[in-house]
Amino acid sequence: MKIFLDTADVNEIRTVARWGVLDGVTTNPTLYAKVGGASYDSILREICRITSGPVSAEVVAEEIDGMLTEARHFAALAPNIVVKVPMSEVGLEVISRLAEEGIRTNCTLIFSANQGLLAAKAGASLLSPFVGRLDDINEDGMQCVRDLVEIVENFDLDAEVLAASIRHPLHMTQAALAGAHVATLPFKVLQQMIHHPLTDKGIATFRADWEKARAALAERKGS
Ligand code: G3P
Repeated sequence: MKIFLDTADVNEIRTVARWGVLDGVTTNPTLYAKVGGASYDSILREICRITSGPVSAEVVAEEIDGMLTEARHFAALAPNIVVKVPMSEVGLEVISRLAEEGIRTNCTLIFSANQGLLAAKAGASLLSPFVGRLDDINEDGMQCVRDLVEIVENFDLDAEVLAASIRHPLHMTQAALAGAHVATLPFKVLQQMIHHPLTDKGIATFRADWEKARAALAERKGS
C-alpha cells in the first residue's frame, strides 16, 4: 500500500521522506493556503525535488479551457506531477482530454462509488474518495473505499483507489484492510501511527534497566 502525505508543507514532506515511508504527496488549494509564503508553482517544484513519487496539484478553474490550461501548466513543472481535477461533468471531460494527452489525473472530491467508476472510465489514474467528509455527514466513508476497490478489481480498471480525507489512525487501518491502493494522510496522523504508549514505555524501561546494569558494573569494578 502506498502512503502519500496530504500537505503542502515541505518540512513535513522532508521529514517523512527521511523516515523512508513516503510514496507521494497530495496538495489542494486549502493545504497551499495553510503554508503560503511562496507561489504554488515553487512549492510544487520543491516537493517534486524531494519525492519522485506522484505529486498532486489541483486545478481551480471551473470551465474546460481554464482547467486544461492550468493542468498543462502543472504537468510541465515536473514529470511526477499528477493533476487533481474535481468530479463534475466538466471534470470528466477534462480528465478524458488530459488522458489523451498523456497527462495523469487524480479525480478528487469523490463521495460515491459511481463517481469513482466514471472517473476511472474517463481515464483518471487516481480516484480520491473523501472518507472523513462522508463520516462528517453521518455516512460510512470507508464503505465508499471498499465499494470502489471492489469495482476496480471486478473490471481490472486501470486506476488506483486513493483513500483521502483520512482523519485518524483507525481510518488508515480500515483503508489498508479495504485494499485501498493508496492513502493520503496529514502529517499528524502519520505521527499518531508511529507512537504507542507501550512502545514509549518499553523504550524508557530498557533505557533505565541499561543504566542500572552499567551503574552496578561500575560499582563492582570500583570496589
Ligand atoms: O486529501 C483530501 C483532504 O485534504 C481533505 O481532508 O480533512 O479537509 O476532509 P479534510
